[in-house]
Amino acid sequence: MSDVAVVGGGIIGLSIAWRLVERGRDVTVFDDGDEGAWHVAAGMLAPGGESAFEDPKLVRLMERSADLWPGFAAELGVDVGYDDTGTLSLAMTADDVAEAARVWTRQQLPLLRPTELRELEPALSPRVRAGVHSPRERQVDPRRVVAALREKLHDRIVPKRIESLSDVDATTVVVAAGCGTARLTGLPVRPVKGQVLRLRGEPGLLRHVLDATVDGRSVYVVPRRDGEIVVGATQEERTDRLVTAGGVYDLLRAAIELVPGLAELELAETTVGHRPGTPDNAPMIGFFGDGHIVAAGHHRNGILLAPVTAELVADLVVEGRECPDFDPRRF
Ligand code: GLY
Repeated sequence: MSDVAVVGGGIIGLSIAWRLVERGRDVTVFDDGDEGAWHVAAGMLAPGGESAFEDPKLVRLMERSADLWPGFAAELGVDVGYDDTGTLSLAMTADDVAEAARVWTRQQLPLLRPTELRELEPALSPRVRAGVHSPRERQVDPRRVVAALREKLHDRIVPKRIESLSDVDATTVVVAAGCGTARLTGLPVRPVKGQVLRLRGEPGLLRHVLDATVDGRSVYVVPRRDGEIVVGATQEERTDRLVTAGGVYDLLRAAIELVPGLAELELAETTVGHRPGTPDNAPMIGFFGDGHIVAAGHHRNGILLAPVTAELVADLVVEGRECPDFDPRRF
């Protein structure tokens, strides 16, 4: 019997396991082999852009985790694509500007004119009307992060699908199974479908993450140093795994309106992931019904919130310190 069993081998489960091992715990991770939301995620670390009008408690959690990311990435000891060039938040039409300005005002960032934006990113369309540069909104490559965490924990990861928590023999059980958490715990976690594309070309077309409203549609464009460009994402209250013609069309149309040069790139991957959403779209971190711990329901912010979630769960397991703001028993 191990000391702690973590059910779920995605970025949340692995981060928790890593921090617990560092704090002297004997940990086993059960990984069902399914590629979770992390595999599809672009890896935007966006405490401002993603938190628009959320609960202040959640905004504070996002900001705290954003502050943890540089150290978390450095401690992994390999290149995980952590990049602090920052994000350009952009708007295309007058209506798009009006919509985006609500977030920009809250972020208190200076408004940049189209010429200033194109000095930062020459590939932007001349149609871009306004934007801001958010240096705190950064990126990481979630696939590299998960590979690095797996490397750190490799002899502790058991490839096994857990059907029932009664099959898990450990003093402490932590369920960090993303959308699979609902099946295991009965807690209200719903899948929120996102279609995401990966384009590939020569590096250098873009440097910043772009987060834009284009003719009323949200799109983000995340350039990696190796020439991969992630374009996301639809947000659909659906459980299926279909890549749809309409989803791809909407994403490509908005992305190419924003950066016409994207039309020349290879469409290398079309993927579907499911964000684990809760009724208030905030995570659940803490004890639930039968005395087990849950860390799930991070919705659009699983990558951003991995370091802080790992710290909070380690505090709970090692010191018994609870996190009342995100108590699962609120549901
Ligand atoms: N955080 C971006 C998304 O969920 O699409």
